[in-house]
Amino acid sequence: MNTEKAEEPEKAEKPAKPAATPEVGRAERSGRAAQDEPLLRVRGLVRHFPITKGLLKRKVGAVQAVDGIDFDVFPGETLGVVGESGCGKSTMGRLITRLDEPTGGSVEFEGQDITHLSPGRLRPLRRDIQMIFQDPYGSLNPRHTIGGIVSTPFRLQGVEPEGGVKKEVQRLLELVGLSPEHYNRYPHEFSGGQRQRIGIARALALKPKLVVADEPVSALDVSIQAQVVNLMDDLQEELGLTYVIIAHDLSVIRHVSDRIAVMYLGKIVELADRDSLYASPRHPYTKALLSAVPVPDPKRRTQRGRILLKGDVPSPINPPSGCRFRTRCWKVTEECITTEPPLIQLRTGHQVACHHPEDESDNSVEATESSDGKASTGQ
Ligand SMILES: Nc1ncnc2c1ncn2[C@@H]1O[C@H](COP(=O)(O)OP(=O)(O)O)[C@@H](O)[C@H]1O
Ligand code: SF4
Ligand SMILES: [Mg+2]
Repeated sequence: MNTEKAEEPEKAEKPAKPAATPEVGRAERSGRAAQDEPLLRVRGLVRHFPITKGLLKRKVGAVQAVDGIDFDVFPGETLGVVGESGCGKSTMGRLITRLDEPTGGSVEFEGQDITHLSPGRLRPLRRDIQMIFQDPYGSLNPRHTIGGIVSTPFRLQGVEPEGGVKKEVQRLLELVGLSPEHYNRYPHEFSGGQRQRIGIARALALKPKLVVADEPVSALDVSIQAQVVNLMDDLQEELGLTYVIIAHDLSVIRHVSDRIAVMYLGKIVELADRDSLYASPRHPYTKALLSAVPVPDPKRRTQRGRILLKGDVPSPINPPSGCRFRTRCWKVTEECITTEPPLIQLRTGHQVACHHPEDESDNSVEATESSDGKASTGQ
């Protein structure tokens, strides 16, 4: 696995994960009971970045990057998080890994409230929660050898693995499809895909329970993306990992996720198990996003029309009143302008924040007439 060969993402797609409710799906695959406690519980999560003015740094406004989101992540599952650029995905990732501190709401990991833990109290938690970053070039120090990079977590946490750090690092390199002989080489000697494997080895060094990956394959060549996605899939099974995978690419999200959260302007607008979301998107925004994804099967291609969204994503500094999607929605009513739709459960495991959700039967993404505007979905 240490050489990278071209491979199409579609061809690498694995059989569909269970289509039932998330509870049943997860329980089937991980052997856990349906009543399992979540590994991560997020409630009312908020991160506003203040905008200040003048010498006195008077607060004149705030970027409402994440503005009140709720979700759980259960042991052994993959939660995919998708949405256009700027909707708050990375901020959310940094909050749940506590690389950033929320301005409101709470984050619980294994039942412990970690929302405002001090750096000292967070230290032991750093072993359990790890992050994989988008940029495999920027995230590896070019002056350090691969061995030095992957052994950093052991040094930081003062952990001495059985058999020594070097042996363990070489084992990790093999685990991610590299060669133990790469130990003394430098990042510039590796391709983007190999560097991302190094980043994955570093993230897995201390046997984390939760891995949050922020656009882990977006910077990679399409021909390499499937290999890295498949590697993450295999590692999840082998090591019993729980993932939160952030991406703007719906084909990647479809491949990796058990459940999917769709974000729009700092909010979760739809949260469902993968198969119900793709078969029956209930939020107009999800429907528009999915309509922009190319369908590989030519027989199905003709049945789907592309929904062109009008206008741009509004600014998170001054988001629209009521429903944040209302400036681009073709179903908007007075209620949407005055009242924010709460995220409610329409059926088991399928939550939607919309006053006028799509019908369940109206499930295929068919030609829905849009107004003039330009397409801006999918990014
Ligand atoms: N440190 C920061 N200071 C001010 N604004 C920020 C900061 N980080 C992110 N933002 C803003 O928050 C919003 C959400 O950003 P981000 O979480 O990076 O979105 P995504 O990952 O979905 O593209 C954007 O408008 C972005 O400009
Ligand atoms: S609440 Fe109204 S504006 Fe918002 S998505 Fe639903 S129908 Fe559209
Ligand atoms: Mg981002």
